[in-house]
Amino acid sequence: MMDMNAPQLSLGVIGAGAMGTGIAQVAATGGIDVIVFDTRPGAAAKACEGIAARLSKRAAEGKMPTEDADAAAKRLHPAASLTDIAPCAIVIEAIVEDLTVKTELFSELEKLVAPDAILASNTSSLPIGAIAAGLQRKDRVAGLHFFNPVPVMKLVEIIRGPDTTEAVAEALFVLARRLGRTPVLVKDTPGFLVNFGGRAINTEALALAHENVASPAEIDAVMRDCYGFRMGPFELMDLTGVDVNFPVTRFIYESFFDDPRLRSTPMHRYKLETGQLGRKTGRGFYSYAEGAEKPSA
Ligand code: NAI
Repeated sequence: MMDMNAPQLSLGVIGAGAMGTGIAQVAATGGIDVIVFDTRPGAAAKACEGIAARLSKRAAEGKMPTEDADAAAKRLHPAASLTDIAPCAIVIEAIVEDLTVKTELFSELEKLVAPDAILASNTSSLPIGAIAAGLQRKDRVAGLHFFNPVPVMKLVEIIRGPDTTEAVAEALFVLARRLGRTPVLVKDTPGFLVNFGGRAINTEALALAHENVASPAEIDAVMRDCYGFRMGPFELMDLTGVDVNFPVTRFIYESFFDDPRLRSTPMHRYKLETGQLGRKTGRGFYSYAEGAEKPSA
């Protein structure tokens, strides 16, 4: 297995959405060459251009040296096809939160990469053991769970599946530190640690809104102003994306055999079904009018 501190380390990122783009950014600024692939035509190139633009803006504001921003931008390479990922020593998957789609991708990946390459998933909730289940080599699969927005959030959960070797987990610790993150080892349980712990806040907030005790904006204000949260649960769900947090909520609920304290509400599902996914669609629990300073409730 390649040393994760090696200067010539090359990292593959699959999925150029919110998370893949953030992961690619911290990898490139951490001195690692990144190859980005997405099935959406043009998405990988757009993500790389967006990162380069953000870094050059930071340099213009004096937040990082211009030569570092330029060097990081040069390390970003959009892939024309999945096969371009083949030379990577480590691949991080950040595609849709769907077990079938993820397992299909991992079985393609294992045919492409070197036998000692690490395959990591950024899944929010799906069992690493289930993602690895159908593979020839389950020992090199692990969870590497970043938080949104990646360049800001320092925590990374490292999840060992039933077959993941200690060497793979250790390599991920080294990689996470190289990316300026704070890694923690957590168990392969539904929602891992952070998303299981955070469930209570989301489901209670959804229940309060469902029972008309208070509106999402009022609940968020209480969580911010009285409890000191950086953002309220509905603001966070809009940031995460309802297409991400609804399946995560449902998966955790079903994993605990329909425990009522983990249940979501019809409003949450309605947001998903009507495409009100949050910031990414301009409307979720709040509306995000273009150019507006603040969302409206
Ligand atoms: P997103 O919807 O912003 O991006 C997903 C990207 O994957 C899209 O660009 C899509 O075109 C691409 N994609 C879908 N299927 C693909 C395939 N088979 N091959 C290549 N590309 C494919 O989603 P987001 O928010 O970045 O989430 C990605 C993963 O990260 C999910 O597993 C999610 O649960 C997890 N996650 C999300 C967080 C969040 O706050 N949004 C936080 C932590 C983890």
